[in-house]
Amino acid sequence: MSNLFTPVKIGPIELRNRTVRSAAFEGMCENNSPSQSLFDYHTAVARGGIGMTTVAYAAVCRSGLSFERQLWMREEIVPELKRLTDAIHREGARASIQLGHCGNMSHRRICGCRPLGASSGFNLYSPTFVHGMTVKEIDEVVEAYGKAVELSIKAGFDAVEIHAGHGYLISQFLSPYTNRRKDEYGGSLENRMRFMRRCMKAVTDAGKGKVAIFVKMNTRDGFRGGMEIDESIEVARELQRCGADALVLSGGFVSRAPMYVMRGQFPVRTITHYMPMKTQWWLKLGVLLGGKIVCPTVPFRHLFFLEDSMKFRKALPDMPLVYVGGVLSRADADKVMDSGFELLQMGRAVLEDTDFVNKMKADENHCSGCEHTNFCVGRMYTLEMCCHKVCKDITPALKRNVERTIRSNDRMERKLGYK
Ligand SMILES: Cc1cc2nc3c(=O)[nH]c(=O)nc-3n(C[C@H](O)[C@H](O)[C@H](O)COP(=O)(O)O)c2cc1C
Repeated sequence: MSNLFTPVKIGPIELRNRTVRSAAFEGMCENNSPSQSLFDYHTAVARGGIGMTTVAYAAVCRSGLSFERQLWMREEIVPELKRLTDAIHREGARASIQLGHCGNMSHRRICGCRPLGASSGFNLYSPTFVHGMTVKEIDEVVEAYGKAVELSIKAGFDAVEIHAGHGYLISQFLSPYTNRRKDEYGGSLENRMRFMRRCMKAVTDAGKGKVAIFVKMNTRDGFRGGMEIDESIEVARELQRCGADALVLSGGFVSRAPMYVMRGQFPVRTITHYMPMKTQWWLKLGVLLGGKIVCPTVPFRHLFFLEDSMKFRKALPDMPLVYVGGVLSRADADKVMDSGFELLQMGRAVLEDTDFVNKMKADENHCSGCEHTNFCVGRMYTLEMCCHKVCKDITPALKRNVERTIRSNDRMERKLGYK
């Protein structure tokens, strides 16, 4: 028996067990505000036995939005968020909120300005021209991080998770691939960490000791020319010095290596099926023609970040570390705990079944039914995330595509000896 179902203290809070629902974008916030479906979803996850659930990907300010159905932290949504955290607490779980800024991964129509980035350039995804941030703009975003933490506290969250990975703004400053600045924010790692340090100062000034401060970061960016483990360990040490209470160890870069984040195939058919033809025909065509080339498959395996995360465990012996990536069974969860991580996060296993944690507790042989088709990811780009098994509007053609994906995943994973 591992310590999976024992309480744990992180910063100022205690969780009833070691499980956390990872930040997995819900797409349930029309008008950038919480909805009843967001409320129902997280309440169900809390009822399913989780230690803490994370509301995903809230933008600290408008320029940080990359989706239409994404939360944007502002005073007027605090009462609705409070209703949500109260409901999560009534179920015995803790509530966390992921705070981020998408940087160059946006479009003027959504973020209200020319997308900001560490450096100027062109973003093939949106597609759009990106504006390298001035120091004044940096100051404004740093301030927005502090303000967003204050609002999160007011809304009753127990924890905040600062998004410093996956190629979003903080990660765009850290990575030499996206940071080509010539000033004190670019060049050496010391300089590339400056923006992150300033955001962390604003976050800790607003929240240290009041909420648990988690930071989700990359172990690697997942492509040649991005951040590698040695530099990322330095980033982790810096985050510890900056006052983070725990680090969530992930990887990948949405604009360059998106499937490194969660593994499996890029769900081209699902994404293009849901994209509106009228406003996004050009993007739809681009994704259909080039999606699999620009976003190559990274084969899935259970606990796909464990080997890299262990290097962080060794390098940071006294820092609470959170494992994420491919936890699909009680055996996986026990293995993570036995490897010395304080907590584990799960995205798709809990997305497929909000009762996954209770089922793992009742049955030590319990296994998730998630087949990592990434249908949920494809749908989330346009509508609310949803597993294909319960999706009411799935068409027969999409269903056949999902079944084909399951068969080809199976063939690939057997060939590689992952199964
Ligand atoms: C539908 C979906 C949406 C996601 N959205 C986010 C997000 O908003 N922020 C984030 O940090 N990670 C996001 N992720 C990544 C997950 O949090 C997690 O790191 C990844 O899926 C690996 O965990 P898993 O194998 O347990 O799913 C998302 C994953 C999925 C499947």
